Order: sequence, then C-alpha cells, then structure tokens
Amino acid sequence: MRILAIETSCDDTGAAVVLNGRKILSNIVSSQVSVHQRYGGVVPELASRRHIESIVPIVTEALERAKVTLRDIDGIAVTQGPGLVGSLLVGLSFAKSLSFVTGLPFVGINHIEAHLSAIFLEERSPKFPFIGLVVSGGHTSLFRVDGFGKFKRLGQTRDDAAGEAYDKVAKLLGLGYPGGPIIDELSRTGNPEAIRFPRPSLGKNSFDFSFSGLKTAVVNYVKAHPEPATGYPEDLIRDIVSSFQEAVVEVLVRKTLQAAQHEKLKRVVLSGGVAANSRLRQKMEEEAAEQRLKVFIPSPSLCSDNAAMVAVAGYEYLKQGIRSPLSLNAFSNLPL
Ligand code: KG4
Ligand code: ZN
Repeated sequence: MRILAIETSCDDTGAAVVLNGRKILSNIVSSQVSVHQRYGGVVPELASRRHIESIVPIVTEALERAKVTLRDIDGIAVTQGPGLVGSLLVGLSFAKSLSFVTGLPFVGINHIEAHLSAIFLEERSPKFPFIGLVVSGGHTSLFRVDGFGKFKRLGQTRDDAAGEAYDKVAKLLGLGYPGGPIIDELSRTGNPEAIRFPRPSLGKNSFDFSFSGLKTAVVNYVKAHPEPATGYPEDLIRDIVSSFQEAVVEVLVRKTLQAAQHEKLKRVVLSGGVAANSRLRQKMEEEAAEQRLKVFIPSPSLCSDNAAMVAVAGYEYLKQGIRSPLSLNAFSNLPL
C-alpha cells in the first residue's frame, strides 16, 4: 500500500510517499527557516502563506522522487493537529481536495502520534508496548504506547516545551533561530557543570515537566552578568548554553526512565525535533543501558517535522479501512 502523506503543522511543508508504512520512497521537507529567522520565531501568518506557495511543488516533487503518479497511490494521510491552525488548514484542505478529485481515501493524523510513529521507518524498531517521549518545539509529553492509536499520557509540560526553551535561550543570547541545533553545537565545547541551573522535578511521582523556571534562571544569570562592551566572551556563552542543555537533558532522561520503571516497560522511544539533540541521545542511551532498557531514536531527519512519519500512522488506519470525512477540520489543540 503506497501512502501519500502531507505535513504542514508548523513552519515546514512536508510531503512523502511511503510503502506499507515502513519504506520511504520519498520524503521532501521544505524548510521556512529563512522566512522566520529574522523574527526569531515562527510568524503564523507568514507560515501559512508560504505553505500555500509550496504545497503543490512539494507534493509534485514527492511523487516524482518516489517515481510514482497519483494512480499508484492507495491513500492519503495528512496532519490534522495539533499545530498552527492556518498552517494545518493548508495541508488539510489540499489533502481533502486531492481525495475528492481522485477518489482516494484520506485520513487525518494527530501530529504527536506521527512523531511517535517515526521510529517504524527505521530498520531497528520497537515492539509494543513502550514509553514514548515526544519532545519538540511545541510539545514535551510522555506516553505509554500499547499500539497504534493506543496511548496513555503519563505527563506533559506545564509551561514551555523543551524546544521552546532552547529557542528562547538562544534568542536571549542572540544566537539565532532555531536555537536547538545552535545550542547543541556550541555545547559540545562548553562546560556543562559551569553553572548549576535548576532541574525542576514537580514531585517524585509526577511525569510532568516545567521549563519556564529554568529559562528564567538563565535570564537571571545573564542579567547578573551584563554583556561587556566587547560582547560576551565566546567561552562564557558556551558554558551558559552547555549548562542549560545539561539541565534540560537531565530532567528529560530522568523522567523518561522513571516512567519506564513505573510502567514496568523495557523499551523507550524518543521523537520530536529535540530528540535530534546529540547530548540527549547520548545520555539517554547511557543511562538506559545501566537500567537494561532498550532505547530507540529515529535518525535526526526523522525526529524533526516530516511527512513520512505521518504516512506510518496513516497506513495503520487506512489498511483497517478507517478514513476521515471531507468535513474533517484542523485543530490547534488536538489531544492524543
Ligand atoms: O518536531 P519539530 O521539528 O517541530 C515541532 O513539532 O515543534 O521540533 C522543532 C524544535 C525546535 O524548537 C528546535 O529548536 C528543536 O526542535 N531542535 C533541537 C535540535 N534540533 C531541533 N533542540 C535541541 N537540539 C537539537 N539538535
Ligand atoms: Zn513536530
């Protein structure tokens, strides 16, 4: 079964063709970073306008790269939410129109479920059940996953998402956008123990997260160490971001492993843009190995927003005959 998938939940226009929910035939992502960079964050109105310009060329390219035409496609999967509603509506309206004119079935997919499904595009993928951590610019949530469509949310962020905290700290220090990859890179040569930033736990048995206090601690540190006329020394910047990253990673790893223990599960899956973070990947692998847990993390390009992961979940529903009506709407908040 060949699924054409479309993802426009935030600032990347994605289209992919995936065979039987496992094999990527094409996976095209058109980044809008150059559009939003100068604002230091995603501007929703600009994002939806750019999706409108990109959607036809990107879907066309996905079909061409997969060496198929619409006649070879068996179903369409599209992100329905959560995300920026103006962005979501572009992909969803396009998918519905395509379904209407071709007669192909289509199904709306939850973006979080798509992130949790990305791991099935890898050769090494987990059996159910597993603990899933979705950690991105918009989300930081822990789930127990018993199968496709079978999720129990164990915890989530009470304020900022982890990726949002990365982006805000980078903005504060004038490092650029998006902050995650920049901080990841700078931290490699910083001292993660230089500054002891808070590691909020929100109680022993809570699987919720909070990153706004940590972000404020970085703001306070920066205020207490005003920028000299010659600019911040490069070493200080590296130490600040490395210490910030260490605090984020420590909390993410600790809570994920505690959740695995609590649910008595031996497998852990990471996903979302922040799962591309080199320190998070390393620390999660190390600490999970100590507890004899197996860790599964998609390759970095499948961690960030892409349409192939939408096709994985779409395939599971479409093969069971589950499809969405043409009246399907997009939702900025769509609980899993
Ligand atoms: O999953 P994603 O592409 O979009 C959302 O659904 O939000 O995640 C984007 C987020 C951004 O906040 C970005 O700064 C962060 O993922 N990110 C990273 C890294 N690469 C992307 N954060 C930390 N380290 C990275 N290497
Ligand atoms: Zn995402």
